Amino acid sequence: MSSLANQRVLVLDFGSQLAQLIARRVREQHVYCEIVRHDITADRLRELAPKGIILSGGPSSVYADGAPKCDPELFELGIPVLGICYGMQLACQALGGEVKSVNSREYGRAHVDVLDHSDLFADVHPKTEVWMSHGDQVTAIDETFVPLASTGTCPYAAVRHKTRPVYGLQFHPEVTHTVEGKTLLANFVRNVCDCDGTWRLGDFADETIERIREQVGDNRVICGLSGGVDSSVVAALLSRAIGSQLSCILVDNGLLRKDEARLVVQEFSGHFKSDLHVVEAEDRFLDKLAGIVDPQEKRRRIGHEFIACFKEEADKITGAKYLAQGTLYPDVIESGASADGPADTIKLHHNVGGLPEELGFDLIEPLRDLFKDEVRQLGLQLGLPEEIVWRHPFPGPGLAVRCLGEVTRDKLAMLREADAIVVGEIKAEGLYRSTSQSFAVLLPVQSVGVMGDSRTYDNAICVRSVNTDDFMTADWSHLPHELLSRIATRIINEVKGVNRVVYDISSKPPATIEWE
Ligand code: XMP
Repeated sequence: MSSLANQRVLVLDFGSQLAQLIARRVREQHVYCEIVRHDITADRLRELAPKGIILSGGPSSVYADGAPKCDPELFELGIPVLGICYGMQLACQALGGEVKSVNSREYGRAHVDVLDHSDLFADVHPKTEVWMSHGDQVTAIDETFVPLASTGTCPYAAVRHKTRPVYGLQFHPEVTHTVEGKTLLANFVRNVCDCDGTWRLGDFADETIERIREQVGDNRVICGLSGGVDSSVVAALLSRAIGSQLSCILVDNGLLRKDEARLVVQEFSGHFKSDLHVVEAEDRFLDKLAGIVDPQEKRRRIGHEFIACFKEEADKITGAKYLAQGTLYPDVIESGASADGPADTIKLHHNVGGLPEELGFDLIEPLRDLFKDEVRQLGLQLGLPEEIVWRHPFPGPGLAVRCLGEVTRDKLAMLREADAIVVGEIKAEGLYRSTSQSFAVLLPVQSVGVMGDSRTYDNAICVRSVNTDDFMTADWSHLPHELLSRIATRIINEVKGVNRVVYDISSKPPATIEWE
């Protein structure tokens, strides 16, 4: 739990995929927000003293066996509460209302009539479009609650308790389909919770830098750099905080993208003047990968070798006490790693690049309270170039899982060139930021072609580009045909050994983003 913000709103997570989105929307109002377990005790809440509490939605029915509940004393604390969907049903049930499964359930878009324009619905249009997604509804609550909005089939689309600061919304204000959802959440945090909306990422940077200085004292910190945005922002933040007490390690495993290592060296040796150790380990990694075709075995070997290289280099750096890592807030929530964090883990972790605790360092994780888009914003504030800040994610095992089958130096060289063409052309078209991950894959097939007068029997490159919010599901990017045509022509003309280019039009699921 961060101690950085003096005003915060807490989201109690009842298993909703949207809990993170609620937290982001609140932070967009410049109010610090964190997600906690749904069963957090009223005593702990008293200690944390949030300005407001949001009960998230969830897939359960409040009457189901084992349905997640909150501490009922929560409603006695005098802290404003907003229940969303399941959260509303729970609040109303706890305070004497009735919840029923209804026949005329509304899913998806609905129009609500606003009945009361004070606090929560201030400045919201009298008829507004919202997004519903639950089979249960609150009924018979006139004794204790006042309706604030309704639809033809849902008389209590929004309610307020008659005497306590407890509100409920049957629909989801956090999703963009609820057209005025942003206003509603802003009204809750500003009008109802009385937050002053002064939380800024810039303050976050200053306070974090101060905190790192206090924590580290005269000691040395090691930071692993990969070329990705998270580790770069951590290194930039530490460089600002402790300058020459920072040592960075870049393991060049020979599986990085074109110019990736050079860019890191230019930025951290050149610009930040950090003590940067580059471990040239291409040969070591390629030796370990010789003859290996199984993707998981490749991952295992790469992960293992990475730890060995990192450890050897770290051992040469005397007096290091801390290891800095780019853990982000979604990682903390998803692994349930925080004491107040939600219990369930949702995401499957590939996580091969992780460094084990046995390295014996104390961890510093300065980004653990931030979302990815906040990390990018912070990176820009710290002076990192857009090329690093907006880089698409890259898997820990790097090009090895995009070079299908056995990994060799020659295949990597082809793949690296083809990949640089894919990314370069997508950037030139202005589509790099609106696509989420774009890259080349070297397929393990040869096919016949003609070049000039002769026949060729050469390799095929697959172009993959996806759009996604969370990398759990993804759609293929509908790239313009002219762009695809330019990419194909350039790859075939410029990358020796390739005579065919295909475009992957599979979505995830059932396919995955990577090919291995
Ligand atoms: P998939 O292929 O499972 O990928 O749809 C989802 C996201 O995870 C990345 N990915 C990895 N990241 N180590 C990583 O650090 C891995 O072994 C790994 N495999 C896939 C992938 O690039 C995408 O962003």
